[in-house]
Amino acid sequence: MANNVGGEIDRAARELNSGHLVAIPTETVYGLAANAIDPIAVAQIFKAKNRPTFDPLIVHCASWEHAQEWVKNPPDFAHQLARELMPGPLTLVLPKSDRIPDIVTAGLPTVAIRVPAHPMTRELLSRLDFPLAAPSANPFGYVSPTTAQHVLDQLGDRLAYVFDGGPCEVGLESTIVAVHEDGWDVLRLGGMDLETIEKAAGCPPRSVRLSSSRPEAPGMLDSHYAPRKPLFFGALHDFIARHPSETYVCITFGTPSSESAWNLSTSGDDREAAANIFRFLRELESHPAEWIVAEPLPSAGLGAAINDRLQRAASEKS
Ligand code: TXA
Ligand code: MG
Repeated sequence: MANNVGGEIDRAARELNSGHLVAIPTETVYGLAANAIDPIAVAQIFKAKNRPTFDPLIVHCASWEHAQEWVKNPPDFAHQLARELMPGPLTLVLPKSDRIPDIVTAGLPTVAIRVPAHPMTRELLSRLDFPLAAPSANPFGYVSPTTAQHVLDQLGDRLAYVFDGGPCEVGLESTIVAVHEDGWDVLRLGGMDLETIEKAAGCPPRSVRLSSSRPEAPGMLDSHYAPRKPLFFGALHDFIARHPSETYVCITFGTPSSESAWNLSTSGDDREAAANIFRFLRELESHPAEWIVAEPLPSAGLGAAINDRLQRAASEKS
């Protein structure tokens, strides 16, 4: 870690202890954090993001052991998953302790728990006497931030401090899983692929519920993660058939199809693609073309989660 990191962690801790908002780096995306057990601090998150209060927040803990204070009788199965997969880009939805304020969970009897892997944020969490409630640090409905600059550009004037931990390694929000005594349900695809979770669980998910108009996880809203330029999600020839006279720039994956395309990973690496996708969507907003066209990736590994984000970012699909 850089020399002045200690000072930055001190500053972040001081602001959070005073009930202020701090943007924190995680391995997935930047979070907009406040003291999770201070309802007034948490209320400011909703205000800064313009986020509806029916949309519950994830509670970030220093470790799974620390998290035990904030959940109530988690199923054995949760311990098994957490032991193998935390810290990492995974969020577990579990019965909540009464000490978690209702504003955090939007009145639900469950709480979403995550142990982020970013070393600076782990250090910060271990110094605090409380966990951090943090959604992604973007205005509601917009693309999630994967650098400190993205946060500054959009929410800089509404935060006490932006804690810069460099670009996010994973680049997609955590995978959200609801855990029960006898199995697990996927509520949001994300930075941990389902194959990895299935291996730790020893069984496949009972269900993968990804989209709804009254979502359990509003990251599941049909329109979300949207850039400020129309995006077509589907095959390029379908786009051209529908919009023969409009200009476009393509997001591609794998073997380059044209020089001008923005390639998520020329080697076809799903992890590299995940780390690039949100930055591409932001940067392409200022591209002169009228449309962004993104073709679906193969769904193995993180491909399915990337397709899910593109689908929700799209103003039009084939
Ligand atoms: O990687 C991530 O998960 C990032 C970083 C900052 O940790 N956070 C993130 O938070 O993506 P956010 O608020 O943008 O998305 C959290 C999702 C929301 O869609 C919310 O509905 C769902 O988690 N969620 C939170 N509590 C829940 C609960 N008790 N039951 C079901 N879904 C829940
Ligand atoms: Mg979000």
